[in-house]
Amino acid sequence: MNQTVLITGASSGIGEAFAKHLAAQNHNLVLIARREEQLNTLAKSLIDTYPIRVTFIAADLTQPKACENIFRDLQNENIHIDYLINSAGFGQAKTFATQTLTTLESMIDLNIKALTT
Ligand SMILES: NC(=O)c1ccc[n+]([C@@H]2O[C@H](COP(=O)([O-])OP(=O)(O)OC[C@H]3O[C@@H](n4cnc5c(N)ncnc54)[C@H](OP(=O)(O)O)[C@@H]3O)[C@@H](O)[C@H]2O)c1
Repeated sequence: MNQTVLITGASSGIGEAFAKHLAAQNHNLVLIARREEQLNTLAKSLIDTYPIRVTFIAADLTQPKACENIFRDLQNENIHIDYLINSAGFGQAKTFATQTLTTLESMIDLNIKALTT
């Protein structure tokens, strides 16, 4: 049976690259990010190309209930996750001291939430 990989940050960058790479190895995928249209386009293109199941969930992982909702949705669809690729995040091309507290807290919050997905 194909294994299933949940990828956060799958709408672009490293997460999208992992999605394409793992799809080519016939892994089933669960794609998470905020931009639903990007996830939809990626999911369609992977399903059209490979014999895999691709599920996408548009979610902002900084929101308090996001991980809980994703967990519930996956349970409802009877999807079991074998591996997590946790690439949701953002970087700032600034020194630490010049960033706002809100930005820094958001960066930390996103990574902690995503780690508990
Ligand atoms: N690329 C590099 O060379 C490099 C090097 C070192 C570290 N990193 C770090 O690795 C991470 C990924 O890098 P990348 O180059 O792939 O960046 P990217 O192209 O900007 O991708 C970031 C991904 O995270 C998602 N994301 C951001 N905020 C989110 C949120 N609140 N909820 C859910 N998803 C969210 C974005 O999707 P949506 O916008 O659709 O939500 C996107 O899919 C970043 O944290 C980056 O700082 C990257």
